[in-house]
Amino acid sequence: MSTTTISTTTSQRKKVTTLAFRQKKERGEPITMLTAYDYPTAMAIDKAGIDAILVGDSLAMVVLGYENTLPVTMDEMLHHARAVSRGAKAPLLVGDMPFMSYQVSVEDALRNAGRFLQQGGMDAVKLEGGRERADAVRAITGAGIPVMGHLGLTPQSVHQMGGFRAQGKTASAAKRLLEDAQILEEAGAFSLVLEAVPARLAEYISKQISIPAVGIGAGAGCDGQVLVTHDLLGLFDRFTPKFVRKYANLHETMNKAFIQYLNDVNTKQFPAVEHTLEMTDDEWNDFLRTA
Ligand code: KIV
Repeated sequence: MSTTTISTTTSQRKKVTTLAFRQKKERGEPITMLTAYDYPTAMAIDKAGIDAILVGDSLAMVVLGYENTLPVTMDEMLHHARAVSRGAKAPLLVGDMPFMSYQVSVEDALRNAGRFLQQGGMDAVKLEGGRERADAVRAITGAGIPVMGHLGLTPQSVHQMGGFRAQGKTASAAKRLLEDAQILEEAGAFSLVLEAVPARLAEYISKQISIPAVGIGAGAGCDGQVLVTHDLLGLFDRFTPKFVRKYANLHETMNKAFIQYLNDVNTKQFPAVEHTLEMTDDEWNDFLRTA
């Protein structure tokens, strides 16, 4: 793990745009992206100097406790998007379109993408799928809303994939992934996520397209990396995907703090004098006279 440098870059940092994404790819500089679902986390990510924040539908699992990402709704996503947009100013903010917010019709897709910008304070949206989403991507980008694609392991298709499994491992699946990436680029996507794809294939796809490919479980050859913040912080204790590096163990830290608090209250060590508001003797006597 690299050494820690505390960064305080919030106020000086220029807003990261989709153009900056493209320029980073051209310069060969890795794009950094993390998920956030609330105000304090968004602030800390901004302060660290991360390029982009995804208000991911992983919210459903790591914050709301669902088994998969399918139950989370547009209204829930917007609620969290607004909190993130209040906390992070410089990063490019991407709202993740939840299940059934873009699959039924292109009109629905466009309307809901618009809501992320109008009501959620986001700069762009992300949606899952390749060729079957090309019309939606065209319509959304045609309305001036930047779209990030998402290929490989697409969690909203968990039942169709037969679980959360790596994708693109056969020659025909790999070819289809490459074609989907090219179709998304042609449809106007400014970037795409490649999730749980063999590293060689992810690197190959990244080189074949001119838009940046941001990897998660897709090796170091992508144009950038994204992780679910709760995995990176060790906050989500149910499971940790193999491709995650845990930079902290906040679940354990929280648990220890809660136990300490419990003990301190039970043994009357909290609150102590310094946490306690007192009345002067005069104030107290005044009170006693009226009581
Ligand atoms: O919802 C999410 O957090 C995501 C990332 C895994 C890319 O889609």
